[in-house]
Amino acid sequence: MISKTLFSWLGGEAKLDMLIDDFMQRVKADPDLGPLYPEDISHLKPYYKRFAMELLGGPQRWSEQHREVNLEDLHAHLDITQARADAMVRCASAALANVSLPGFAREAALQRVRGAVYRMINVGSAGGVLPPFNQPDTAQPWQESP
Ligand code: HEM
Repeated sequence: MISKTLFSWLGGEAKLDMLIDDFMQRVKADPDLGPLYPEDISHLKPYYKRFAMELLGGPQRWSEQHREVNLEDLHAHLDITQARADAMVRCASAALANVSLPGFAREAALQRVRGAVYRMINVGSAGGVLPPFNQPDTAQPWQESP
């Protein structure tokens, strides 16, 4: 079996950069999320890119460079509700709809985004119940050769 990651289905780093730029623009424009962020979010993009790269099975730059970062602590001063997490998933879904990707890979990518984003919920009881985002998958369709 040839192993193919969601990151390679997406087309690599340049495509991921465009995807995250689009995603961040949508987050900043979202009425529930945008006001939480500073006016200029350009310094945040590299973090979200490294995280997304690893989330989609690409190079593990997040773990290499930010092993010490605790994302839950980093967001503790923000009220991250289920509604805000859902808004972020919608931004990711819209950005993913703009790239060329087979349907199963799009849905699998979105599933991973949901897992990562829902872990950040810190208002109510949904947070903290999901496994770490970079656990290896068991056999999945995107790991088959096309
Ligand atoms: C529902 C999910 C999320 C929400 C609502 C959210 C919201 C925010 C906001 C509003 C900030 C700016 C905070 C400030 O300037 O005080 C921020 C910063 C940040 N977020 Fe998120 N975030 C979410 C998920 C994530 C995820 C999945 C990552 C993974 C990389 C992430 C990584 C970061 C980083 C690295 C910062 C920079 C903190 C700093 O400047 O020190 N966030 N987030």
